[in-house]
Amino acid sequence: MGKKVVVLGTGGTIAGRSERGSDNVGYKAGQVGVQSLLQDIAPLQAALQGRELVAEQVAQVDSKDMGFAVWAALAQRCAQHLQDTQVDAVLITHGTDTLEETAFFLEQVLPPALLQAKPLVLTCAMRPASALTPDGPQNVLDAVAVALDSAARGVLVVCAGAVHSARLVQKSYTYRVDAFDSGDAGPLALVEEARVRWLGKPAPMAPPRVVDLQALANTAWPRVEIVMSYAGASGAMVRSLAVPDANVPPLRGLVVAGTGNGTLHVDLEAALLEAQAQGTPVVRASRCARGQVVAGEGVAALPHSQGLSAVKARIALMLQLMP
Ligand code: SIN
Repeated sequence: MGKKVVVLGTGGTIAGRSERGSDNVGYKAGQVGVQSLLQDIAPLQAALQGRELVAEQVAQVDSKDMGFAVWAALAQRCAQHLQDTQVDAVLITHGTDTLEETAFFLEQVLPPALLQAKPLVLTCAMRPASALTPDGPQNVLDAVAVALDSAARGVLVVCAGAVHSARLVQKSYTYRVDAFDSGDAGPLALVEEARVRWLGKPAPMAPPRVVDLQALANTAWPRVEIVMSYAGASGAMVRSLAVPDANVPPLRGLVVAGTGNGTLHVDLEAALLEAQAQGTPVVRASRCARGQVVAGEGVAALPHSQGLSAVKARIALMLQLMP
């Protein structure tokens, strides 16, 4: 048995502060250091069952501003700690707004063998640390219970007593403390009084791929943008994205959040087909919150996102386009 649990802090509402305890929206995210956040959770010592707690601040951001540099640093720190035989589990505290993207990114780039051996658990809060009743401390305790559960594997997200897989989790509510769900699949498990009740199996691991985490930090990430189909959509957005601009890297790929089953306004579709013909890969996701694009017979002119939401399809395409 290892002897440590590592918590990597990245900011978010869980580390947020507002001037009044009753203010759950007018706060600044990423204000409290992870060490101090953890110190304030009295039952944490007992939850660790004798293990040492190691806290490390990897970033201190509002996750709406999450970017590739933090992702690269986080992936390196996760890999380093996961391969340490003294470490039983790694947790990440993160803002809720892009948590599903970070979880999916980490699942895609970390060596599957490391994630099969130990869980990587992301947790968060919808109320700032300064709230009258903050939800962060309970989420951290639940995340520790999951991280130390013998059945826990892969990249997991814990929020409001529910456990989700990195692939399916999405933020579904703007304000409620149970902000996340896993769509049709439902949560993988529930955490009840520090006990984990599994409802399903952790999602199958992503196919093994070798990503050089060191190189990730020094690589220019391919620019992939997301567009949406809607009533009255035109091809103007897609065509303007393709125009070279000295201030931004060239467009390398597009994800479209289509209506319903990934359908597209005829004018937008024409522009996307043009972009694809000119060498820009295009992936079709759906803007619906539930379900996934279901393929019909034959080969679609624009490939679908293999069940991924638009934001996760974008990450998958960026990684695919990396040298
Ligand atoms: C953030 O995503 O960093 C702010 C919002 C939140 O954590 O709920």
